[in-house]
Amino acid sequence: MDLFESNLGTRRGREKYRLREGFKSMPLSIRKLGFDDLETLALLAREDADFDVPGRGEALEPLGEEAARRYLQNPSLIHWVAEEEGRVVGHMNGYILPLRAGGVVEFLLYEIGVRNSHRGRGVGKALVRIMLDWMRDNNIQVTWVIADNPGAFEFYRKCGFGKVEGTLTQMEVRS
Ligand SMILES: CC(C)(COP(=O)(O)OP(=O)(O)OC[C@H]1O[C@@H](n2cnc3c(N)ncnc32)[C@H](O)[C@@H]1OP(=O)(O)O)[C@@H](O)C(=O)NCCC(=O)NCCS
Repeated sequence: MDLFESNLGTRRGREKYRLREGFKSMPLSIRKLGFDDLETLALLAREDADFDVPGRGEALEPLGEEAARRYLQNPSLIHWVAEEEGRVVGHMNGYILPLRAGGVVEFLLYEIGVRNSHRGRGVGKALVRIMLDWMRDNNIQVTWVIADNPGAFEFYRKCGFGKVEGTLTQMEVRS
């Protein structure tokens, strides 16, 4: 099975984590979104502000059914959700990037968010830990991310990411 196939049918790989000691909490369950996770995807859109930096996010319009199915079926996309008793408390997504030479495959960690009420309890770190396991299982050599706020920068550092010196001024162009 190749890397992309291994990301299909994505109910596999449900992992259980116990959150940081000292918090009265349910065990955390982490899984990849599957083809039929339309409702979860819509919830993540509607409640986007709760997963973003306070004051930054806003409710987003969920994708229509066809676009949502296309998103969930994209073989380059991996989208994990962390759930407590079936309620989504965190999520993280990114894209597999096979490079044009050298046999190197990278992963772009595009987005991570933990509900405001659930921060500081190890949910974000558990999501990154599962991504690291997945990288090892799938021969992904490197994951990179653009940390877009100081808290995220510290969080990534605590999760083992190192700053790449001399790189990146984020630029964009819009159509
Ligand atoms: C960044 C974010 C995902 C962290 O999730 P979390 O579940 O609160 O993080 P954890 O509890 O797993 O923390 C892991 C480590 O990072 C540290 N950390 C987390 N957030 C931090 C912050 N804002 N400032 C400093 N350190 C932080 C924790 O202290 C912990 O350190 P430890 O391992 O030494 O105990 C969460 O704060 C969030 O959703 N922020 C809004 C969205 C966002 O900024 N996303 C990233 C955009 S690039």
